[in-house]
Amino acid sequence: MFKLDKIQISNADVLPIIEGGKGINVSTGLTAGNFAKCGAVGTISGTNPDFLDSEGNVLRYIFDENMTRKEKFQRLVEYSIAGGIDQAKIAYDVASGNGRIHMNFLWEAGGTSQIIDEVLSGVKGLIHGITCGAGLPYSLSDIAAKHKVYYYPIISSARAFKILWLRSYNKVAELLGGVVYEDPWLAGGHNGLSSKEDPKIPQDPYERIVDLRSSLNSLNLSHVPIIMAGGVWNLKEWERYIDNKDVGLLAFQFGTRPLLTQESPISDAYKQALLNVDDGGVSLHNFSPTGFYSSAIRNPFLIKLEERSARQMKVSRRANEEFTKQIPSGNGITNFYVQEVDYPRAMGYISEGLDTLLKTPDDTVIFVKQADADQIRKDQVGCMGCLSHCRFSGWCDKEEKNNTTGSLPDPRSFCIEKTLQDVGHGGSVQDNLVFSGHHAYRFKHDPMYKNGYIPSIQELVNAIMKGD
Ligand SMILES: Cc1cc2nc3c(=O)[nH]c(=O)nc-3n(C[C@H](O)[C@H](O)[C@H](O)COP(=O)(O)O)c2cc1C
Ligand code: SF4
Repeated sequence: MFKLDKIQISNADVLPIIEGGKGINVSTGLTAGNFAKCGAVGTISGTNPDFLDSEGNVLRYIFDENMTRKEKFQRLVEYSIAGGIDQAKIAYDVASGNGRIHMNFLWEAGGTSQIIDEVLSGVKGLIHGITCGAGLPYSLSDIAAKHKVYYYPIISSARAFKILWLRSYNKVAELLGGVVYEDPWLAGGHNGLSSKEDPKIPQDPYERIVDLRSSLNSLNLSHVPIIMAGGVWNLKEWERYIDNKDVGLLAFQFGTRPLLTQESPISDAYKQALLNVDDGGVSLHNFSPTGFYSSAIRNPFLIKLEERSARQMKVSRRANEEFTKQIPSGNGITNFYVQEVDYPRAMGYISEGLDTLLKTPDDTVIFVKQADADQIRKDQVGCMGCLSHCRFSGWCDKEEKNNTTGSLPDPRSFCIEKTLQDVGHGGSVQDNLVFSGHHAYRFKHDPMYKNGYIPSIQELVNAIMKGD
């Protein structure tokens, strides 16, 4: 019979099941509290979580139009701190002392260190561990040490962990609670593909996990669990990993399956979209303003970005030997020249009404309709500074850099804050980014979800523990 043992996580014996943190407000105090209540580990998203009024109603993040970008950024940080504290209290109440509660942060979010610090100060004892991915969160260990919580870096290769360990984590070894290995080809949300890895050529997680374990052992960290995330559906399929000395202590993180639970706060439309994803219906793409790859349902929103990027062309403002053909442009700039070979394509776009040219940081332009150009500019101007570096608006949260990345804003990207806030509060699942892991297509075939059935978190945890 399939059997899973408990494991020690954040100083408690828990089921080896971890809810993956999901921003913006997808894994919440309610979902995390329920995972913990089942004796597992729940993870609140600390990235722009919802905050509440005195009666428990969700308050939306609101910015006045006349606020500067920096003022909006400061407001966003305040909202995030208030939201993190509110969600931690909910999780603590729901968990009733069971399991463990973690909080997840996107390292590349704007003001992250301050947000983690202030949330943890505001909820002493309610959060047992912090997890952090997307980027190299060097100072995670220092923040954990200050607040005496365990820390869990999310990495996608043994190499990334070694860099973090050598640079800073070795100084706070006793609080390293685990290392999350997130499969960069399969996990939902942002993915840690390195420049050497091909998004189209996935690698076997087994080899990479064994490599990570061997690195951990060589650093005297054999007691530190690896948390396997990305593409984990049912644990019967992972028996090779369980009780395997080459893998060592192991727990499993689930990001996509918890989306389809009764407690999951996403809209019914989002849940229906997940129930209907086909194999291959989730796209690993590189449009995110963070600069990382990410995985989301390939819906009209993503298709529009794909098409926009495909309408890319090298141009020159001056005629020369290479750029010989002048093209008209709907944005008032008349002296754009393209290569002869591109001329028919350019004129084709223009005749379709895609006659506004927007420059990219790569010395190219994209062809869009005037209305889309207006929307892109409006979104760039509306930037709230949610990231530490934003490819879409050129915002940077460092004052010493004058709050700019120094690069041209990139119209091939989009405002992730706007779209995740919208879809996280019932907005369209066609016109927004809808994060999902690549195995979402299994919802259609797994008997648990027959006739659209949506289990509770307790039912999901029970099924996972049975290997289903
Ligand atoms: C909707 C969604 C949002 C996510 N947001 C985050 C996030 O904010 N931070 C993070 O570290 N991981 C995020 N993830 C990744 C999950 O925490 C988890 O590691 C991953 O989904 C596991 O792979 P799976 O989707 O195959 O289960 C997200 C995943 C999904 C599906
Ligand atoms: S434009 Fe970029 S930094 Fe600004 S709010 Fe949107 S995603 Fe965040």
